[in-house]
Formats: sequence, structure tokens, C-alpha cells
Amino acid sequence: APTRLWGGRFEGGPSDALARLSVSVQFDWRLAPYDLMGSRAHARVLNRAGLLDDDELTRMLDAIDDLEQACASGEFRPTVADEDVHTALERGLLERLGSLGGKLRAGRSRNDQVATDLRLYLRDHVRRIVSRLVELQTSLIGQAEANMGVACPGMTHLQHAQPVLFSHQLLAHVHAISRDIERFQDWDKRAAISPLGSGALAGSSLPLDPQAVAEELGFTAAAANSMDAVSDRDFVAEFLFAAALTGVHLSRLGEEVCLWASQEFRWIEMDDTYATGSSIMPQKKNPDVAELARGKAGRIIGALVGLLTTLKGLPLTYNRDLQEDKEGAFDAVETLLLVLPAVSGLIATMRVNTERMEELAPQGFALATDLAELLVRRGVVFRDAHEVVGHLVVWCQVNDKDFGDLTDEELAKVSPHLTPDVREVLNVPGAIASRKAHGGTAPERVQEQIENLRASSDAA
Ligand code: ARG
Repeated sequence: APTRLWGGRFEGGPSDALARLSVSVQFDWRLAPYDLMGSRAHARVLNRAGLLDDDELTRMLDAIDDLEQACASGEFRPTVADEDVHTALERGLLERLGSLGGKLRAGRSRNDQVATDLRLYLRDHVRRIVSRLVELQTSLIGQAEANMGVACPGMTHLQHAQPVLFSHQLLAHVHAISRDIERFQDWDKRAAISPLGSGALAGSSLPLDPQAVAEELGFTAAAANSMDAVSDRDFVAEFLFAAALTGVHLSRLGEEVCLWASQEFRWIEMDDTYATGSSIMPQKKNPDVAELARGKAGRIIGALVGLLTTLKGLPLTYNRDLQEDKEGAFDAVETLLLVLPAVSGLIATMRVNTERMEELAPQGFALATDLAELLVRRGVVFRDAHEVVGHLVVWCQVNDKDFGDLTDEELAKVSPHLTPDVREVLNVPGAIASRKAHGGTAPERVQEQIENLRASSDAA
């Protein structure tokens, strides 16, 4: 007979259609290790409450250990007749303990159990995600350090704007990832609340000790309101937001790598181990890692929007709709854990074409702002300086010249402000070195960022 947890008041079993709709074990089996952790803590609390004697506790804990091993080895598997992970594991205990296995359900409902399991699962996996994020930071910081001093075109609107250090640009991505890490760590403070003891929704009449259970499971406290505890999925939605924003950051980095690796940019060359070929075009070297990072962000965003939509109309407390919280969360976890090592490897192994970047850095009149600011320092009103340099750019375009090609006479013809000594600012290293205020691209500021980011990344 199928092991249903709720057979008593029913005369017939569920229809096939209901059973197929209802079953979640094919995905919530991921919660098995956490469900068993919760069961251990619950067995101890039942023992302290006098509801399980010492001998029963010992047998119960031995059976849980045995079942845990059988799950890990694959010897114990859920069957299609097991509605969910909780049902499957109760079957495992009943197989090992006979009727004693049924005692563990006292004072506990799948409603507080599933909320607890998912918190444990996410807290555990968020730690793994943070480790992978730190590795990506290490890759980016490593490239920033190895290429310290290399200039590249800094862009707005994807147009050459002002030259910057390539390291400054790489570190911009590291800062975004630092915020992601902080968000996950801050999320954990709110996720670290234990729903166990809330029962189905109202708490328990049995003398349980939710605070002790919470502590045993590594939570900071037990939930203060049982109705909130079984129906709150803020922790999933918040996790998915942090995951989705991380996905967006990886997508933006991925998009940059696609550009950098293109024939038009040629800023970097991907290592063969992190690039793919074409089945028809023998010359192709494709940035699939970067593209998958970009593409997979979509599914995490989808999981966030999907969950918020599921939650928005739900009355208190538990509703079966809440079963829909899990697949998106698992997928977000697994997607990040799949994407992050690949992106880290791509970044760590890419070769930076420093000559090409240095050559491109001043192009497109990227030093125009420097020239205008020099005129301002000499007392010209910025509006006028902007106009003068604008004219100079047009003159150069018409005559097919760059700033560096201009003679003294040509400068003077555009404006009397353009004396020969303005050339002192028309060089990339000078332009970069002059951005030395806090947050700027000057080498000493970038070096400080490397040190600060490395320290905060090590501490994460
Ligand atoms: N599989 C369910 C879920 O994921 C477990 C809780 C079921 N509780 C219930 N009363 N039907 O939400």
C-alpha cells in the first residue's frame, strides 16, 4: 500500500490525476539530508518532553543514521508512490523501526517541516554560492593586478568616452560581486529562523522546546509566530532576488567578455579550454561560457517573478501553492553553481591584448575632456571650452587628423586658447593619472582598490 501520511479519514485512495499533480518527491528529494537533520533534532526534543524514552531515542537516532547512509549511497530511493520527501523518509523509518517510526510525527507537521528544510537547504547552498563568488573575485582581481597600468577605452553608450585603466574596469565587476556577497550574508540573518514547533499553523500542545531545536539546527532563534512561520516564504523570494541580481551581474560581465573577444574589439583572447568551436566554420572561437552566463540569468529572474506571483494572493497560512516555491529555488542554486566556476575559469585564463587596448585607448578623441578641463584650469568658462574642443574635433574629422597630428598653427586657427603647450594633457597616461580623486582611475586609486577588495574578499 502507498505510504500516505493522511489516509485515516479517506475511504478511497487519490485518483491518478491527483496523485500525479500532487507529487513533489521528484524535486524535493534534494531536501532529504536537511529533513533528516530536522528529524534528529525533533527526536531529541520528544525525548526531553517524555514522549520518547531513552531506548526509543537511541533506536530512532540509529535508524536515522542508517537511513541517511542509505539515502547517500542511493540504496534508499523515493518511489512514485511517495508523495514528497517527508513521506518517503517516514517510509524509510517505518521500514527500519516498525511502529516506533510513526512516533516522530508527534508535534510536527509537514508545514513546519518543509519550511525548515528549505531554510536549511538554502542557508547551506548560499554558503557554497558565496565561496564560488569569492573565487570569481579572485580571478578578476588577479587579472586586474597582472594588467595593472594597461589603458583601455572607457565607454559610455558603447562609444569611446575617456581612457581608463583596464584594471579599473575589471574591479568595477568585483565591487558588484562584493555587494552580491553582502546581500547573501545579510539574507542569512533573516533566513536563520526556525519554523519547527509551529506544527501545522498554531504551535503544539506538546511540551516541545522550539528554541532548543532551533539552536541544534544552527538557527539563531525559533519563529515567534507559528502562523507566520509556516506561510512565510520571504526567505525564498529574497534569496531569489539576490540570486537574480547576481545573475544579472554575471550576464553583464558575460556581455563584456563577448565584446572584448570579438574581432572588432580584440581586447582579449579566450583560452582554448574556455571557448568553443563551430561545427561548420573551422576558424570560429566562440564565447559560449559568457553567453550562457548571460542567457541563464533569464531563468533566475523568471524564478523570482514566478514566486512573487505565486505568493501575492495567498491567505494565511499554509496553502499547497507554496509547494511551487521549490523548483525555482533549486534551479537558481544549481544554475549559479554551474555558471560561476566556468566564468571564473574564463576570466582567470583569458589573455589580455595590452597593445591593442593601449592603441585604442586614445582613439575617438577620448582625450577631449582633458583638453577642455585644461582650458578651464586656465580660466576659460567650461561652456566655451567645451565648444572650442568640439570645433577642434570636427576640424580633425574633416581633415582626417587626430589630436596628436596637429601643428601649432592648426591649433591656433581653431582657437587662440589652443596654445602649443596644451599638448601636455593630450596623452593617455597623463589623463589617467590625473583622475586621482577618490574612486578615480588613477593607478594609485586602482592599487588601493585591489588591496581593499582582496581584504574584503578574503574575509567573506
Ligand atoms: N510537499 C509539500 C510542500 O512542498 C509539503 C507540505 C504539505 N503539507 C500539506 N499540508 N499538504 O509544500
